Amino acid sequence: MSDIKVFVQEPSGSNTPVDAPTDMGLNLMEVLKASGYPIAATCGGMALCATCHIEVLSDHELPPPSDDEGYMLDSLPAITDHSRLSCQIKVLPNLDGLVVKLGAGE
Ligand code: FES
Repeated sequence: MSDIKVFVQEPSGSNTPVDAPTDMGLNLMEVLKASGYPIAATCGGMALCATCHIEVLSDHELPPPSDDEGYMLDSLPAITDHSRLSCQIKVLPNLDGLVVKLGAGE
């Protein structure tokens, strides 16, 4: 079992570690949801609902957004250069130490 840790920045400013398995084909939305974070994910991870919107605070190299993800992000009222849809981010070893904030810009 190979786990990495990602960190969720809470409204208080503290970072909560979340264990994320890299060998189960999960995406970040699934991991955050399974850890109890209130992500509606009404589209089931199809880049269609944007309820899994996060802001990436660490400087990890992530694959660029797909056209679908970019289109959804553009439709949100307030996004930053670091906004992503967590359902479109695969949990891979290179995400170890990633820091995100949930629901950024909403
Ligand atoms: S879960 Fe709907 S866009 Fe990510």
